[in-house]
Amino acid sequence: MIIKPKFRGFICTTAHPEGCQAQVEEQIRYVLEQNKISGPKNVLIIGASTGYGLASRIVSTFGCGANTIGVSFERPSSGKRTATAGWYNTAAFEKNARQAGVKAYSINGDAFSDEIKQETIALIQAEMGQVDLVIYSLASPKRTHPHTGEQLNSVLKPIGQSYTNKNVDFHTGEIKSLTVEPATEEEIRQTIAVMGGEDWQMWIDALDQADVLAEGVTTLAYSYIGPALTHPIYREGTVGRAKDHLEETAQILQRKLEAKQGRAFVSINKALVTQSSAAIPVVPLYVSLLYRIMKEEGLHEGCIEQIYRLFAEEIFGGSLPHLDAKGRIRIDNLEMREHVQAEVDKRWDTVNDQNLIALSDIEGYRKEFFQLFGFEVAGIDYEQETNADVAIPSID
Ligand code: NAI
Repeated sequence: MIIKPKFRGFICTTAHPEGCQAQVEEQIRYVLEQNKISGPKNVLIIGASTGYGLASRIVSTFGCGANTIGVSFERPSSGKRTATAGWYNTAAFEKNARQAGVKAYSINGDAFSDEIKQETIALIQAEMGQVDLVIYSLASPKRTHPHTGEQLNSVLKPIGQSYTNKNVDFHTGEIKSLTVEPATEEEIRQTIAVMGGEDWQMWIDALDQADVLAEGVTTLAYSYIGPALTHPIYREGTVGRAKDHLEETAQILQRKLEAKQGRAFVSINKALVTQSSAAIPVVPLYVSLLYRIMKEEGLHEGCIEQIYRLFAEEIFGGSLPHLDAKGRIRIDNLEMREHVQAEVDKRWDTVNDQNLIALSDIEGYRKEFFQLFGFEVAGIDYEQETNADVAIPSID
């Protein structure tokens, strides 16, 4: 079929297999050009098909030479529907990893469920024995609690009072004022249950009980802080509460893993264009301004540069990672530099529909968003017929 982007709100409902493959191979190429990392040998990545999780899988294999198991929740193609981008990314990753002679297995299903945890454990036992790195990189709007069956939903809302700020429609470049009403106590509770640390802890408990965590294992989850202008909607809002819980969970897991000389960390990462971040009000305009300033200063990084730096300099750099006062790794250090944020603030006050292109990287944001789904990738002829029915070797 000929595949073109189709949108429902900020979600793209189609994906291009060759474009996704090219994007994955671009990330692989970046890692192959860097120094090798003396790191993990067998890695489990939960949330491995897009964004930070995919980058973590690529750095594990092509930077460290590690075997990987990637868990994600993606849809294969059927009839006239393409697969999701994460499906095509996973297929491309496996193909490249296997060509490089490294083991790569993928599990597609609900990571919040007990069944997927048990399936993953059985696969580790059969193929790897134990894992020495577990990365938790899920981003999900909902969760079915595995023990109570409760359907939980996460919301992106402020707490205590409503929040009004500028918001951009990155398809049209239109900037409008947006007001988000505060969350209820029940919405806060459910958001913590979806995006907090409970499921990370359930994974580590299940893996530990099955004795598939190696001596000296490291586990890692990702979080975000960001600038004061997004605090009401993010860090001091519902998702921020969930991130507080995730970060507290790292302390619990650190104590638990000490018996096997293990380590648990949260890494605070940079704001980037991913399917999840595009859904957060106000954030796309902030990211567009941030990208422009960081590119102008030669400080810009994408997922792959962030995760390579995290592995090479912090987690597997040979010395202890640099931690902030709350025990977190800060690879958001370039984003949070004082002069970068001062420039964002200055532009934030004046940005409008007329000067958006001059002040921000809205064009770059839009392009990266399309590229998440395999579109607008150099070298791909989008007028050509393409086979949407792509298999993931370890799944089909
Ligand atoms: P993403 O949307 O690109 O990736 C989410 C992953 O989770 C995908 O692999 C998806 O298949 C998987 N997933 C979702 N629900 C699942 C389920 N029920 N079962 C199995 N897999 C499921 O997200 P992104 O942005 O890479 O986020 C990953 C983590 O990084 C999150 O904790 C996020 O808060 C954090 N982070 C993201 C930043 C950003 O700007 N994008 C900045 C800093 C941290």
